Amino acid sequence: MKTIRVLLILLLMVLIGAVAGSAVLAQGPGNGGGEANCWACHRQPNPNTLSGAEAEIAFCLKCHGDPQVETWATEGRTPVYVDPARHAQTLHGRVACTACHTDVARNPHRATEPVACENCHAAILAHVHMGAPHLSTDCAACHRPDLPVIRDTATGRIVVAKTDAAGNPVDRTAHALVARPDCENCHYTGNPVGAPAIALPARSVLCMPCHEAAPIVKDPWSAVGLLIFLAGMTVNISIYLRGELPGHPGATAMQKLSYIAEGLTRLIFSRRFFRVVGSKLADGIFLRRSLQESVSRWVMHTLIYWPFLARFLLGLITWAGEAFWPAAHWTRVLADRDTPGVAFFNDLCAALVILGVLIALHRRFIRRDPRLRTGVEDKAAISLLGAAFFLGILLEGVRLLSVGLPADRAAWAFLGYAVAAILRPLPLDWTQVYPVLWYLHALLIIAVIAYLPFSKLLHILITPLVAVINTVRGGHK
Ligand code: HEC
Ligand code: HEC
Ligand code: HEC
Ligand code: HEC
Ligand code: HEC
Ligand code: HEC
Ligand code: HEC
Repeated sequence: MKTIRVLLILLLMVLIGAVAGSAVLAQGPGNGGGEANCWACHRQPNPNTLSGAEAEIAFCLKCHGDPQVETWATEGRTPVYVDPARHAQTLHGRVACTACHTDVARNPHRATEPVACENCHAAILAHVHMGAPHLSTDCAACHRPDLPVIRDTATGRIVVAKTDAAGNPVDRTAHALVARPDCENCHYTGNPVGAPAIALPARSVLCMPCHEAAPIVKDPWSAVGLLIFLAGMTVNISIYLRGELPGHPGATAMQKLSYIAEGLTRLIFSRRFFRVVGSKLADGIFLRRSLQESVSRWVMHTLIYWPFLARFLLGLITWAGEAFWPAAHWTRVLADRDTPGVAFFNDLCAALVILGVLIALHRRFIRRDPRLRTGVEDKAAISLLGAAFFLGILLEGVRLLSVGLPADRAAWAFLGYAVAAILRPLPLDWTQVYPVLWYLHALLIIAVIAYLPFSKLLHILITPLVAVINTVRGGHK
């Protein structure tokens, strides 16, 4: 029970850190306030009705639909003339202007917020299954592929540029939003926004143990890894079922399965449920058996196991937010890997796991602890995992370099930040290095997971589960 409390407190700390961080980041100018609002004198049409939207469009186009408007505009700014006939043909030709330009119906007549697409298209995190890495990319940066993009130095966001490479104002008034933009508009060698040089696949279900990701499989490597994992688990379960079930000699595999299911059901509906499951889970989570064996073994296990579990839980909460509350502020905050609390938490957990793996390797290879009758498979799995973590941190550092995250935000990911500081002097194009390391990290992880059912590392996954099943099997004392 104590352990669960500790885990909850850890999670609470992340949430507080995340909210505090986002409050700092969200210090944008508010809407309205003291400015002279157009609707203070002009009757605001209801933009949610078709006629209201039309009335508003007509109101704005009184100026913007007249080429004369350019002569009233500030010298040298981007054009503001919106061709009415062309505008009517666009995807949003009948959408009220202020549904997108939420903050311009006022004096000063200036936009301070990105165009508000989320008001109508809310499920943006699940969007093309890779919303989270593009949280700081304006919708228009992707959906207006005709326009040049830059990273706004003030906000760090990727936006459509106001000037072209030669410094001339860009006409952004066409409103020609494209429904299926190309990834290659940004993901190419030498791009100005720090995007990886090739568009990478979305994170798959295999990444969920340690990252914000969705239960999807979009790349062939993850598909192969998952199939091997599932095949291995099937073999494991069938071996488990071959053993004798206490109290049911000679039962067939199907009978055993149904006894276990029956026992589990009875347990769930019994008054003992919370006591048994709670104490067995606590046994598993707290690794009590391992503590009884040896303290150093327990420390090693705990260092690997707890941070894993904590990252997994955070990833799960984030995924639930993306799936069910995509428009909620906290979802956005948790999904953004650069949110200070999230970045710090992830790196802290990673540091602890790496420490645990180092202790494990030390016991195995240097101290050669005689009590550890470990086979080859243990070493392989632990080394693969260690390598994957190491690459993950390298990857994080290279990402910070390629997107050029400002130091006050990047430093929260302290491991990646340290790597970035070391690598910075190297004369490399980090957007090209990134995809290579990305694939190495991902393939190592996929290899570990495919290998899991065949390795001793499996006990990480199933210790608590087996404890509960064994209670059920042990009868109903
Ligand atoms: C202090 C009150 C006030 C505010 C605030 C105000 N207007 Fe006006 N506006 C007027 C008045 C008065 C007229 C003249 C009405 C007329 O001629 O029928 C006018 C005229 C206009 C016209 C011409 C109307 C027509 O039918 O030709 C447009 C377009 C317009 N305003 C747009 C805006 C916009 C856009 C804003 C916000 C940036 C704004 N106004 C803010 C008072 C205001
Ligand atoms: C009275 C004429 C007039 C009316 C009415 C008007 N605008 Fe403008 N608008 C302008 C001018 C002039 C500019 C250029 C301002 C400048 O020099 O920066 C402009 C600029 C803009 C910009 C660019 C803002 C920026 O930060 O660069 C947007 C977006 C815009 N208008 C939207 C609207 C919308 C939406 C409406 C209807 C609610 C509207 N305008 C009504 C004259 C008008
Ligand atoms: C679907 C959302 C949407 C609607 C509806 C919309 N706009 Fe825009 N508008 C955009 C986007 C996106 C841009 C590109 C610039 C950006 O991202 O800020 C833009 C650019 C502009 C610009 C150029 C601003 C600049 O700084 O270069 C003007 C002016 C403008 N819109 C006016 C209007 C007017 C007037 C209407 C209504 C007739 C309207 N818009 C309706 C999304 C919209
Ligand atoms: C006022 C609500 C509203 C806002 C704000 C809005 N949209 Fe839309 N959008 C719509 C509607 C309605 C459709 C048409 C839906 C359909 O055809 O299924 C649409 C269609 C689209 C489509 C085409 C979808 C398809 O399946 O072909 C894209 C892409 C799109 N919007 C992007 C944007 C972007 C980018 C912005 C911000 C610049 C934006 N929208 C802002 C309401 C809105
Ligand atoms: C990284 C680029 C990128 C960004 C950023 C982006 N989109 Fe998209 N969007 C796409 C691509 C690619 C598709 C086509 C999806 C497909 O083919 O399945 C798409 C499709 C859409 C569609 C069509 C319906 C759908 O969901 O498949 C809408 C609506 C849309 N985007 C709105 C938005 C809005 C609103 C934003 C900003 C909040 C946004 N997009 C940001 C790349 C992007
Ligand atoms: C407007 C520019 C732009 C477009 C278009 C774009 N991306 Fe990106 N993408 C970026 C940037 C910038 C990053 C790095 C973001 C970061 O790490 O903060 C990125 C990162 C990514 C990542 C995350 C890699 C990682 O770190 O795990 C994936 C996956 C990705 N993009 C896929 C796509 C796909 C698929 C498309 C086409 C549907 C696409 N992108 C279109 C700008 C873009
Ligand atoms: C066993 C845990 C684990 C798994 C599973 C895992 N990773 Fe990682 N990954 C890490 C660690 C640790 C880091 C270091 C940075 C951090 O702490 O988030 C990292 C970093 C990354 C980064 C660096 C960028 C950043 O700042 O987030 C990317 C991209 C990444 N992983 C992609 C993946 C993909 C894709 C998968 C699934 C194929 C995956 N990871 C599965 C542990 C894991």
